[in-house]
Amino acid sequence: MNPVKHVAIIMDGNGRWGIKYKKSRNLGHRAGLKTVEKIIKSTIKNKIKHLTLYAFSTENWKRPKSEINFLFTLLDTFIDQKIDEFNKQNIKLKIIGNINILNNKLKKKLKRSENITKKNNRLQVNLALNYGSKSELINAFKQIKKNKQNINSKNIEKNLYTSSIPDPDILIRTGNTNRLSNFLLWQMAYSEIFFEKKLWPDFNENDYNKILKKFKKIKRNYGNI
Ligand code: IPE
Ligand code: IPE
Ligand code: MG
Repeated sequence: MNPVKHVAIIMDGNGRWGIKYKKSRNLGHRAGLKTVEKIIKSTIKNKIKHLTLYAFSTENWKRPKSEINFLFTLLDTFIDQKIDEFNKQNIKLKIIGNINILNNKLKKKLKRSENITKKNNRLQVNLALNYGSKSELINAFKQIKKNKQNINSKNIEKNLYTSSIPDPDILIRTGNTNRLSNFLLWQMAYSEIFFEKKLWPDFNENDYNKILKKFKKIKRNYGNI
């Protein structure tokens, strides 16, 4: 039986769900947040220590301004409403991605949320925000060059946002799309990948548990036989 330390999720399909059921992409994003809460709860129930959620990619800036604004307002309100509850539940929040370019108010809120939850150890939720794997790797190489270090796996990993996080055992992408979209390319070298047909707002605890069950039976070779 494989132990699960880390699940990473590309939460895709909010926009299509919103159009289908509410005639609005943004309402799909709102519905997607409910799934986030459910999946955090199931992750705790399953005693998994790391959950990484892809919330906004470096490429998502190409979207219409109105959708981008909606997404960041949604995040801002979610943090206001939930951070104390997360803290009580012993959840640690970590942001991965470049949040320097976000507005000051939100940036401070995110930093403060990381700070007040930093000692928690039941579950670490890594929120990928303005995250792009290629830019993460470029930054790591620049850092290595600046420090005149050798290029090797250890030094690369030390300079990634995920330096203190084990590699994902499982990647789930919902939304019936089979690609990685610039997510954790280095870290997922040996992750088991599950592409889900369901759109993110429809994904539920039962779907999640089925994936966890399947994962446990997989023979992970890492190149060996
Ligand atoms: C993923 O859902 C969530 C974000 C990128 C924020 P999408 O918004 O990509 O939903 P679809 O793929 O357009 O349905
Ligand atoms: C990936 O979804 C990013 C997030 C879920 C945040 P996208 O919907 O942006 O991916 P592409 O553009 O279809 O590859
Ligand atoms: Mg999408």
